[in-house]
Amino acid sequence: MIAALESQPEIPSKKQEVSSLLTERIHTPQDAARIIRDGGLVAFPTETVFGLGVDATNTDAVKKLFTAKGRPSNNPLIVHINDQQDWTLAASEMTRHADALLTAFAPGPITVVLPKLAKISHLVSAGLNTVGLRIPSHPIAREIFRLAKVPVAAPSANRSGKPSSTTWQSAFEDLNGRVDAVYCEDSTSIGIESTVVHCCGPFPVILRPGAITLEQVQQIVPEAKEMASCVAHDEPSATDAVSSPGILHPHYQPDAEIHLLEKPTSELITPNAGSAYCGLDRFAGIEQLPLSNTFETVEDYAAGFYEFLRQADRNSISRIFVQTAPAHGIGRALLDRQRRAAGG
Ligand code: TXA
Ligand code: MG
Repeated sequence: MIAALESQPEIPSKKQEVSSLLTERIHTPQDAARIIRDGGLVAFPTETVFGLGVDATNTDAVKKLFTAKGRPSNNPLIVHINDQQDWTLAASEMTRHADALLTAFAPGPITVVLPKLAKISHLVSAGLNTVGLRIPSHPIAREIFRLAKVPVAAPSANRSGKPSSTTWQSAFEDLNGRVDAVYCEDSTSIGIESTVVHCCGPFPVILRPGAITLEQVQQIVPEAKEMASCVAHDEPSATDAVSSPGILHPHYQPDAEIHLLEKPTSELITPNAGSAYCGLDRFAGIEQLPLSNTFETVEDYAAGFYEFLRQADRNSISRIFVQTAPAHGIGRALLDRQRRAAGG
């Protein structure tokens, strides 16, 4: 796997223009923490997707991160810490709703948006007066944050617009030559980014669905809503105060074109050298496709979706047929990513 990736042609890109860093392969949290403290950029595993970490209080370092990813500057970054009681490293206030949600779900795949601490670089929050705060459950990530002793801003470790990386090989493939180091161990388990919940208003608003579902959030705070339903019902108390500017940019898109379908059939999916399929159901003729993957559960599908898109690009697939996930549980988050990957 590693050899195959290393022999891939360099991504023809602005890579050399942007930087020509020698990307170190690291294997210890100590190395990762040292590089972050020194103002460097390090890709590391979390339980959701790989992150690209940087000291959130170091504006020069954060600037390098936006350049390395090619990320639009109006898309704010999530700040990561090791323990709930360290929230004072990133936020100026812990709201009642955020405290209840973190107590229920952290460490884990949830991000709460809180009033920002002045020390956090304005580039991290893209000029907003709020900050996304997350405590991952992955032991390597937590050890890095504990040793770094600084709040770590970390977007997903991929080139902006591309599918997130769920293996270190994919993080390396995207970021080699652009970042200081990649933690070359382990992979992720959930495979879809954290649930982002705005917690500064009268009720929590889910800005991005993730493995922690609306129903789970409502068990803790029954008034919680999804942003989409606030917009649909024109609830100014939610929509005025809350914005997640980055959400409008293209996301998760492979080079191949994506066709979403509810049910795969041999009529819809014609065997073709340039076509691939992923989903939960099999269909007659699936074995004639050059690349396909059927997952046994929605959880497995979420965990393997981004890597399948990347595999399709590595195999020069031009069209990926994607069976849509059922819109409940983690399927809701997967469906959101599938629609965005398809350009919707
Ligand atoms: O699981 C995850 O959340 C991963 C891992 C690495 O922790 N991180 C991640 O980061 O997905 P990124 O940069 O790919 O996505 C961050 C999301 C964006 O949708 C952004 O708009 C939102 O979080 N966000 C961050 N800070 C925010 C804020 N202050 N207000 C509203 N939305 C915010
Ligand atoms: Mg991302």
